[in-house]
Amino acid sequence: MINKSKFIVFEGIDGAGKTTQINLLAAALSKHNIACSVTAEPTTLPSGKLLRQALAGEIPTTAMEMAEMFARDRVNHNVDKEQGIEKQLSDGITVISDRYYYSSLAYQGAELGFDAVSALNLENPDIRTPDLCVFLDLTPEKSLERIGARVDVPREIYENYEYLEKTRKMFFDVFERLKQRGEKIVIIDASGSVDDIAARIFDAVIQIF
Ligand code: TMP
Repeated sequence: MINKSKFIVFEGIDGAGKTTQINLLAAALSKHNIACSVTAEPTTLPSGKLLRQALAGEIPTTAMEMAEMFARDRVNHNVDKEQGIEKQLSDGITVISDRYYYSSLAYQGAELGFDAVSALNLENPDIRTPDLCVFLDLTPEKSLERIGARVDVPREIYENYEYLEKTRKMFFDVFERLKQRGEKIVIIDASGSVDDIAARIFDAVIQIF
C-alpha cells in the first residue's frame, strides 16, 4: 500500500459520535502502518481558546465575528510550525481533524449565507482542502438524546433542536455545493452500533490511500 499522508476531516452535528469514531479510525489506520495524528477545531491554540469562550457565551460576538474567529483559528491550525496540519503532512503523517470549514459553512453559513463564509475559507490559500470529509449523520432527536446523556459536558450555545435540524440541512446543502467543486465527501449513518459504523468508515477511508 502506498502510504502518502492524507488530510481527513470528520463532521457531524453534536452528539454524532465523532470523537469515538476518530479514535477508532486512527487505531485502525495505525494497524495498517499509516501514521496518524488526531486534531480538532476549535484548536488548543490561543485563537481556539478564545472561540471556546465565545461558544460558551462568555464574550459577546456577532455571527460575522464568529465566522472570522473560526477562519483565523483554521489558518493557525494549518500553519502552526510545531503541530500544524501542513507540518504533519510534510512529515508523512495523516491528519484526522474533528471539524473543519464544513462546520463554518453550515453553522455560520446558516446565519450569514454560504458565500460570506466561503470567502473566508474556500478562498483562503492558507486553508487546505481536505482529501476526504466523513459526515456522521444523525437526526436532531438522536443528537439531543446523546448530548443529554453526557452530563459532564456543559451545554454550548448551538445545542437546541431547531438549530440542530437547520444545521443538518445546511450541511447537506454545503456538501452538494462542495461536491460540485470536486470535494470528496462520504455520508455515514451514525445511528447504528459503534463497531458497524467504524467498519463502514474504514472501508471508505482506506480507498483514498
Ligand atoms: P465541539 O467541540 O463539540 O465540536 O464544539 C464545537 C462547536 O463549535 C460546535 O457546536 C460547532 C461549532 N463550530 C462552528 O460553529 N463553526 C466552526 O467552524 C467550528 C469548527 C465549530
